[in-house]
Amino acid sequence: MKQNNRIAFLINTLVFSLIGFSTTQAAESDLSLENVMKFMMVVMILMTAFVLWLIVVYSEKEDSEGKTFKTPLIALRKFLTRSTPIENEKEILLSHNYDGIKELDNRIPPWFSMLFYGTIIWAAIYLLTYHVFNDGQVQSKEYVAEIEQARQERDFLIRTGAFINEETVKFVNDAASLSEGKEIYIKNCASCHGQNGEGLVGPNLTDDFWINGGGIKNIFKTIKYGVPAKGMISWEAQLDPKKMQSASSYIITLHNTNPPNGKAPEGTKWVEPADNNQQVTKGS
Ligand code: HEC
Repeated sequence: MKQNNRIAFLINTLVFSLIGFSTTQAAESDLSLENVMKFMMVVMILMTAFVLWLIVVYSEKEDSEGKTFKTPLIALRKFLTRSTPIENEKEILLSHNYDGIKELDNRIPPWFSMLFYGTIIWAAIYLLTYHVFNDGQVQSKEYVAEIEQARQERDFLIRTGAFINEETVKFVNDAASLSEGKEIYIKNCASCHGQNGEGLVGPNLTDDFWINGGGIKNIFKTIKYGVPAKGMISWEAQLDPKKMQSASSYIITLHNTNPPNGKAPEGTKWVEPADNNQQVTKGS
């Protein structure tokens, strides 16, 4: 009997710990609606089973007072709060006596011990999860994971060109970007600047002369903001920064190609700064 009690005690402690463990696990992983629904369904099934069981118990055993149902609960309560019955108090009375105040050596209530041992088991599970098998994320790991995610997001922004503007734009010399730039040019720009950049309504883009400044940064700026008063629209809304960079680069490659029917030079001669640190002309 004593042995049985110990086993029951151990099983209960384990169950308590596991319930605690699984709930914290569930709270840590962000619960999707699907998981919540699954959980609710399990609870519903258990509750239905419980009600059915009650019906069977109440009807079959003609137990209108529900004693059958209460018995296990009472047994459980007795088990959890086991203590020496009042009739046997003498057995646990301690020998000392302080001005008539006596002390009983009552056992610690099992529910309390279970919680206590539960915390010890919990600590072991925690230690194994977070520090031995490294399944859980300790604060420093969480931090590293967040930094990594931020880095990926930044890379994505760089790849899509979100950081390209008239200050950071670079002449991109790879075939893919230049062919993309050409495609954009033929589709959107050739009608005003000519198939080969020789100039039509818009100025010649192949010579040394620029109205709004030459070089990749100024060209990018003119494309981005346009010169609406002169008939060159702003392309910011239609082309993302990466595309504008490709188109600007393609225009750079047109330099000195001397296409036939070249329009007469307009603007001032653009000299590429020696230090390559091109200035963006102020205003437009
Ligand atoms: C509707 C006609 C039109 C279209 C379409 C057009 N442009 Fe222009 N573009 C102009 C005009 C006109 C100017 C001259 C603006 C000025 O006088 O400042 C100009 C100026 C420019 C300049 C500056 C030239 C300089 O000398 O400073 C660049 C670069 C340019 N366009 C690129 C493009 C690109 C790239 C596209 C297509 C994405 C495009 N343009 C589409 C009419 C057009």
